[in-house]
Amino acid sequence: SGPQPLKGMKALVTAGPTHEPLDPVRFLGNRSSGKQGYAIAAALTKAGAETTLISGPVSLDPPAGVNLVKVETARDMLAATETALPADIAVFTAAVADWRPEDVADSKIKKTSGAPAAIRLATNPDILATVSHAGRRPRLVIGFAAETNDVVAQATQKRAKKDCDWIVANEVGGAVADGVFGADRNQVHIIDAAGHEEWPEMDKNEIASRLVARIVKTLEHA
Ligand code: C5P
Repeated sequence: SGPQPLKGMKALVTAGPTHEPLDPVRFLGNRSSGKQGYAIAAALTKAGAETTLISGPVSLDPPAGVNLVKVETARDMLAATETALPADIAVFTAAVADWRPEDVADSKIKKTSGAPAAIRLATNPDILATVSHAGRRPRLVIGFAAETNDVVAQATQKRAKKDCDWIVANEVGGAVADGVFGADRNQVHIIDAAGHEEWPEMDKNEIASRLVARIVKTLEHA
């Protein structure tokens, strides 16, 4: 099974989209595939960490050895994340819906004649920011950011706002447009207190194993 430098440590990873119901058959969601988060959970497990993977609805098989917790909504994801604490390492890859329909109908909403009803939205909790500011803050809190422009500047601001240790930022749109969602490859920047690193484009599994190697190095020197 190879060296296990994270043996004895606990990790949690959020992954995938959230689905926010409108009624029993409809939801608001997004196209996140969950691939990057599942790959990171697999790499943390391989390195010996006891890993909880809190996943929104995706069509991926869970990596061997992880504790999988499946959720639908952002509020469920926050509750499952808090249940998984305390942890040494927390990685937030999930594409959490920023908003949810304020009212959820008990039965299927019927078509009406005339103008359709407006959907009123309520703000979802920010899971990453909540955990970063909590009393049981993990030693290493890592957020992700998808940006269309000014990747490093935006991610640097996001790191400060969310109070996480690292932001893994990727460019969506422009040259690498099609593809980050659902694709097997990705190109990221790592933003931390010391500055930023640009990584070449690589497979999401390769990003996961390099990220875990960086986590190991950081915790060894902490
Ligand atoms: O603000 P933004 O959505 O761009 O931030 C992305 C980061 O914050 C990701 O790590 C994502 O998993 C996390 N996040 C979260 N809960 C939210 C929104 C974002 O944990 N409601």
